[in-house]
Amino acid sequence: MAVDVLLGLQWGDEGKGKIVDVLTPKYDIIARFQGGPNAGHTLEFEGIKHVLHTIPSGIFHNGVKNVVGNGVVIDPVILKVEIDKLLKMGVDIKAQLLISKKAHIILPTHKLLDKASEIAKGKHKIGSTLKGIGPTYMDKTGRNGIRVGDVFAPNFKETYATLVEKHHNILKNYDFDYNLSELEDAFFEGIETLKGLTPIDSEHYLNQAMKAGKKILAEGAQGSLLDVDFGTYPFVTSSNTITAGTCTGLGIAPNKIDRIIGIFKAYCTRVGSGPFPTEDFTETGAKIREIGHEFGATTGRERRCGWIDIPALKYAIMINGVTELSMMKGDVLDTFETIKVCTHYMHGGEKIDFFPYSINDTETTPVYEEIQGWNTDTTKLDSSEALPENLIAYVKYLENLLETPITIVSVGPDRSQTIAMNADVLA
Ligand code: GDP
Ligand code: IMO
Ligand code: MG
Repeated sequence: MAVDVLLGLQWGDEGKGKIVDVLTPKYDIIARFQGGPNAGHTLEFEGIKHVLHTIPSGIFHNGVKNVVGNGVVIDPVILKVEIDKLLKMGVDIKAQLLISKKAHIILPTHKLLDKASEIAKGKHKIGSTLKGIGPTYMDKTGRNGIRVGDVFAPNFKETYATLVEKHHNILKNYDFDYNLSELEDAFFEGIETLKGLTPIDSEHYLNQAMKAGKKILAEGAQGSLLDVDFGTYPFVTSSNTITAGTCTGLGIAPNKIDRIIGIFKAYCTRVGSGPFPTEDFTETGAKIREIGHEFGATTGRERRCGWIDIPALKYAIMINGVTELSMMKGDVLDTFETIKVCTHYMHGGEKIDFFPYSINDTETTPVYEEIQGWNTDTTKLDSSEALPENLIAYVKYLENLLETPITIVSVGPDRSQTIAMNADVLA
């Protein structure tokens, strides 16, 4: 059996957690391949909302294995909080959650370095979630990092102390006060929790599972426009958020990948700094934020809101090899008379329909087409036939521009508010 991939095509928070949860009954294994607790993946069912940061979004389905792959960075403090919540709900963590021995660990000093670096950048800050993501990936590629497998070694404390010493030396370069010891108790408690989990060689585990006919869904974090290579650099995260990240972050070969589900909002949001050509600074943007509850699931920060950006989506679809699309939060536009779609940019005085090298430095303004809204409450609809004509027209219009089928339309945060646009997509 092959692996399917689900990932975000914008700047994150597209609704990945919800759709992974909805699709999980079709799979045996859900596997996160990159990112860390900068992610906040929300799922809702039976009137309860859950936010996951490290643990894959298939964890609420009995019998499904959830793998945290080698490409993920883990904060033991945050992982422990997540686990404790799930244990209270009766989730069998020991059986359902498997952690790659090769995943890297976020130390308290990584979080301090993240904060010190952001303060030093001043108005040029990235807008990091301050979870230590950048410094941990820097230590990984710098070959200084500590992996899950290392915590079982008798000399773990020494390995930890050596890396912390390096970090103290770097922190001396910043005008930054900190108290490490108050963070260390929680860290070592988290390490104990981590030791009680099921560590695996996830690349072997996943490839054997495939051979045995098991179905795997790889769950992306962040979004393609935050990818360290292809996103709006330097205002990006520090991992490869795109389909290729599945290969390096799980040990899955490219020829084993089958469906690639790209997920996007019917409009667009961004949290943190960086360019966002279709951002709407008027009451309209504020209305999207209010109706869409656009506040970060990890940091609670206001998300910047604006219109859908076709050149950016086409770019993300190209880089990822997307085979089908899920359109999220259609219901948020239920009361809009008209909907704007950015089909082109004016970039350095030229009209273009592609995503250029940089939209940071050269003035890039959107060129819009206006589409009729549907002015209908869609949140209680349960089949594609029931969707208002103008919403179907919007879907068809986007499919045409994006040259990719939209197979799911989401009309609310709950599991049940998910409409399959063809018969077999959720079956
Ligand atoms: P993720 O990081 O991609 O998993 O997305 P987040 O969980 O950070 O943000 C998506 C937010 O939108 C969450 O609060 C979801 O509960 C919510 N959501 C997901 N799909 C829909 C939808 O179709 N309509 C509405 N109104 N909310 C949705
Ligand atoms: P999910 O998986 C939205 C953004 C941060 C910041 C930049 C770098 O929930 O979609 P980092 O902490 O990674 O160094 O921050 O990336 N960012 C996200 N934005 N959703 C996320 O994850 C994000 N993870 C990071 O706001 O701009
Ligand atoms: Mg999120």
